[in-house]
Amino acid sequence: MDSETIAPFATKRTTPLAATMTARAIDAVKFYTDAGDEPVHALDGVSLEIRAGEMVALVGPSGCGKSTLLNLIGCVDLPTRGTIEVDGRATSSLDDDALTGLRRERIGTVFQFFNLLPAMTIAENVGLPLVLQRVPRGEIDARVRAALESVGIYEKANAYPSQVSGGQMQRAAIARATIHKPAIVLADEPTGNLDSTSGANVLRLLRDVASNGQAILMATHSMDAAAVCDRVIRMQDGKIVA
Ligand SMILES: Nc1ncnc2c1ncn2[C@@H]1O[C@H](COP(=O)(O)OP(=O)(O)OP(=O)(O)O)[C@@H](O)[C@H]1O
Ligand SMILES: [Mg+2]
Repeated sequence: MDSETIAPFATKRTTPLAATMTARAIDAVKFYTDAGDEPVHALDGVSLEIRAGEMVALVGPSGCGKSTLLNLIGCVDLPTRGTIEVDGRATSSLDDDALTGLRRERIGTVFQFFNLLPAMTIAENVGLPLVLQRVPRGEIDARVRAALESVGIYEKANAYPSQVSGGQMQRAAIARATIHKPAIVLADEPTGNLDSTSGANVLRLLRDVASNGQAILMATHSMDAAAVCDRVIRMQDGKIVA
């Protein structure tokens, strides 16, 4: 499958959602105290629930706390107060090893600037989550091939990130974020650095991931991206406003 065979438009879900809760924030607060005299109230009491198979957009002005919330759900950081649960486990109650395990096994992340490792081939980048989980080599090769085929870039398996287009890098990033079948895929402006056709392809791929039962939480400034989601959460000044 190449870019031309991926339909340019993603459409909203037509099937009912599963009942399984994948991630939850309960009155989550995040203060940053390291930037100056006054603490920055990046999140000011956020509560939300994300269910399996749901694709949710997080929108709001720059600085309103979208990436902060993704970092908390992604187990990159812990809330100052309140609770973040992933797969039913409260992140603040876990030690570092358990938190790392939860992040590696249950979370996938797609960034605006792809964040592929430049010294690794596309195939090596995509296989990395499985290497970290100590999956046997032969199984990794087979799963990487299937993942690259599903996003339409198998012919780029042995290329380095610098040798492929931005749209192809983002498709590799989606393959990497989903190859270990995480419960939730966190996407921070995944179309922000792409032209509209590549952006539409990325949305279509994320929609496909959600239809396989994985949850997607996507921070975005793009109305097109928000429009293909099942639900839009609006934030302002560290709070959910709608
Ligand atoms: N590591 C940090 N240290 C101090 N302050 C931070 C840190 N990270 C974020 N902030 C602040 O927290 C607030 C929320 O930032 P965040 O990155 O979550 O916003 P955002 O909604 O993702 O914005 P954008 O749309 O520009 O990506 C901002 O005021 C930001 O300056
Ligand atoms: Mg951000």
